[in-house]
Amino acid sequence: MPWVVRDAVRDINRAVARRWQSIDPLLPDPAAMPAGCGAPLVVSGENGRMVGLGVCVHHHVPAGSLNQSWGAADRFLLTPRLTGQDTHLATGELLSQWRDHLAGVAAARGEDTSAVVAWPSRDITGVRALLRHGLQPLTVIAARTRPTAPGRGPRPVPGVTIRAAGPADEEQVLDLEVQLIKYDGHFGGPVWRRDTVALVRQEVRSSLERQAMWTWLAERDGRAIGLLVAQPPAEAGWIAGMTSRSPAAYLQTMFIQAADRDSGIGAALVRALHARLDAAGVAVTLLHHSQVNPLSGPFWYRMGYRPLWTSWEARPARALRLPVRISPGRGCSRGL
Ligand SMILES: CC(C)(COP(=O)(O)OP(=O)(O)OC[C@H]1O[C@@H](n2cnc3c(N)ncnc32)[C@H](O)[C@@H]1OP(=O)(O)O)[C@@H](O)C(=O)NCCC(=O)NCCS
Repeated sequence: MPWVVRDAVRDINRAVARRWQSIDPLLPDPAAMPAGCGAPLVVSGENGRMVGLGVCVHHHVPAGSLNQSWGAADRFLLTPRLTGQDTHLATGELLSQWRDHLAGVAAARGEDTSAVVAWPSRDITGVRALLRHGLQPLTVIAARTRPTAPGRGPRPVPGVTIRAAGPADEEQVLDLEVQLIKYDGHFGGPVWRRDTVALVRQEVRSSLERQAMWTWLAERDGRAIGLLVAQPPAEAGWIAGMTSRSPAAYLQTMFIQAADRDSGIGAALVRALHARLDAAGVAVTLLHHSQVNPLSGPFWYRMGYRPLWTSWEARPARALRLPVRISPGRGCSRGL
């Protein structure tokens, strides 16, 4: 990379770091730009100066990997770096260039593909451009920071016990995990594959044997009715770079049987986890939830989480389009 370009990239990264910190202190410093599947996409301002950059990375998820059940097999991930207070125009320009780039990539034309961009949830200035290019806000990474004062401890639910799961619980854990994937499937994130159940079983078995994750069951009359799985910081390194706080844990699974919801069991599981994380000095806990899941958002925000990143997707990738005009509409404060 010629030094002039390297300096420009460094300046952009510095400006983006300042911008992100002013938007949301839980955002990390922007990571180095990955090597892309084509030349970097460059956005110039009115005076010809570089105001933004983007890199597209092609990620092929092979069949037989559980990760394929969480999304498309071929994912085209855009890493944007945009400067300035209002990124609306630069976002639009970058997305148009990305769309043109993908139009020339044969692997992006298939059905089992997605175009994905992780966007800071509080960076509202690019949202209209994302919508106009056909992207949908599918998944949220929400974060909870360790409170300064001790929070409410778990409140027992009469007749319900919470205990750690072991290898003998494989069937019950598998059943609840599979129910969760099917439930989440309604919201367009997971993709049901022929081998999804077998792959989840493998993961559950190895995780219960290793005991590296915290897998807890809520039981009534000896029957499992709720499941929580969390990754302590030693297992959560793969997502830790999404936030400035450290150490970070990851809440992987949360499911309560339909008949047992709304009676405090979910809160009891989560508060037991929080008590353990807070005592261990874990600074932040992250989790994914579907943006349109009507149960998870309200629950997580009640439990102290808030949006950090929103994953915007077009599926298949060719659904990423040139901009259409979206009328400003009426704000909710103006009434109907
Ligand atoms: C989300 C889920 C785990 C919540 O579990 P739950 O046992 O029903 O929740 P609780 O009864 O413990 O509720 C805890 C608090 O959140 C509130 N809450 C829970 N769900 C809510 C909802 N959909 N809307 C508004 N508030 C809600 C409760 O009122 C309660 O508030 P309180 O502390 O003031 O009493 C459960 O609905 C579920 O399993 N849903 C399907 C799977 C799913 O969405 N999992 C999350 C994937 S990220």
